[in-house]
Order: sequence, then structure tokens, then C-alpha cells
Amino acid sequence: MILELEGLAAGYGAKTVISDLSFAVAEGEILALLGHNGAGKTTTLKTAMGLIAPRAGLVRFAGVPLARVPVAERVARGLRLLPEGRGIFPDLTVAENIDVVAARLAAGGAMFTPEALYRLLPVLAERRTTRAGSMSGGQQQMLAFALAILGTPRCLLLDEPSIGLAPNLVERLFAQVRDVCRAHGVAVVLVEQNVAAALALADRVAIMNSGKLVFDGTPEAARASNLWEHF
Ligand SMILES: Nc1ncnc2c1ncn2[C@@H]1O[C@H](COP(=O)(O)OP(=O)(O)OP(=O)(O)O)[C@@H](O)[C@H]1O
Ligand SMILES: [Mg+2]
Repeated sequence: MILELEGLAAGYGAKTVISDLSFAVAEGEILALLGHNGAGKTTTLKTAMGLIAPRAGLVRFAGVPLARVPVAERVARGLRLLPEGRGIFPDLTVAENIDVVAARLAAGGAMFTPEALYRLLPVLAERRTTRAGSMSGGQQQMLAFALAILGTPRCLLLDEPSIGLAPNLVERLFAQVRDVCRAHGVAVVLVEQNVAAALALADRVAIMNSGKLVFDGTPEAARASNLWEHF
């Protein structure tokens, strides 16, 4: 298992939002993490990334507990978050966005150098000198995905990557996610409102309700379950 969450609890101020949360994702596996608005999906990803300190439990990455590992070091080890709402620099060009992030990552032997990204996502190569904030939503989302996989990712935490994308773009983006995952053994935790697209892509499905895990199984079993009343 590349990423393991064990008995995790986290929250904001006096409020505990997730509790007793345990799941794991293996190398090369795509796990869809689903649940209604406010179920705690974003909080879970942020806690795994180290942006929120857990109140109980632990996060392990490649077998190593992360409690005292700062966010930048988690990024360097290959744990990468595509945040809710994109997280690109709108006033920089596409190439500047990529270069700023690449400069913070170890260059030697990277799985995805900027040039490899431009080959993988030609839509970005054509727009190297375009201001990121002036591109379409779909193009911006492709850039956000590119920033998440730059360097050598080992586990991608993708928080609603399909939001605002046309169905054919969702298909293209998810095909890229699947290719990266399959070809390079990268694990993915995919948080999605687009349940049909997520179930089609995922190897496994975890469903959250009110900060707790209520299902962990195959997409087929998830489809057959009566858990959809939680959405
Ligand atoms: N910064 C914050 N401060 C206080 N409460 C927060 C904060 N962020 C989230 N919450 C609360 O935590 C709960 C879980 O929010 P979270 O964003 O993790 O849910 P989510 O499953 O990602 O929802 P969505 O599908 O709408 O993105 C909600 O009740 C929300 O109001
Ligand atoms: Mg969210």
C-alpha cells in the first residue's frame, strides 16, 4: 500500500469533521472517494496531504508514518494534491506555471519533466505563452492536472478534477489519469461529484457519509448498493 489512513480524525475549531476513518490505496490503483456535499472528502485529502493536522490516527506513505513530515517533503516524496478549485497561477503563462512548480521539485530522473508533460498534453504545448487565467475552464483543469503530476508522483489526490468540464473533456482527462496510473504505477484517490465517470474509472470505491466511511468495495458492488440515498 502506498497510502494508508488509519483511524484518522480531523476538523476545524471545535468541530470534528472526519472520525475513525481508515482506508488504503495500492500502487497503480484508482480509488474513487465519493459522498454528499460536506461529507468530509476535501478534509480527508487535506489531512492526508498535511494541510490539516489530524486529531487522532495516522497517515502512512510508502510504509512511513507522516506525522512529522512537512507538506513540502510529502510533495517531494511523490504525494501530490490537485486542490478543489484548481490551484494554478492565473497571472502566469502556462510555461511559467510549469516552470515554477518544476523548480521546486528534484529534476534528476523525473517521471514527468516539463517536456514530457507537453508531449502528454499537447493542448498545453500549444499554449505555452498563454496567460493561464485566460484559458477555458477545461484547459485550466488540464494545467492543474499537469502541475499535480509534474516530477515523480507516486500518489495523486485529485479533488473534483472534472468540475466544470464538458463530458468529452472529462473523458479525455480521465483517460490521461488512467494512462499515467497504469503505465507508471501511480496510485490515485479521486474525489468526484461525477459518480458515473468516477465508477467507470475506478478499481475500488470508498463512500463517506458524515465524516465516516460507509462503504469500501468494487464499483460493481457500489452500483448495486443502496448507498446512493446519501447523495
Ligand atoms: N475551513 C473550514 N472551517 C470550518 N469548517 C469547514 C472548513 N472546511 C470545511 N468545513 C466543514 O467541514 C465539513 C466537511 O467539509 P469538506 O469540504 O471536507 O466536505 P466535502 O465532502 O469535500 O464537500 P463537497 O462535496 O461540497 O466539496 C462541512 O461541514 C464543512 O462545512
Ligand atoms: Mg470538497
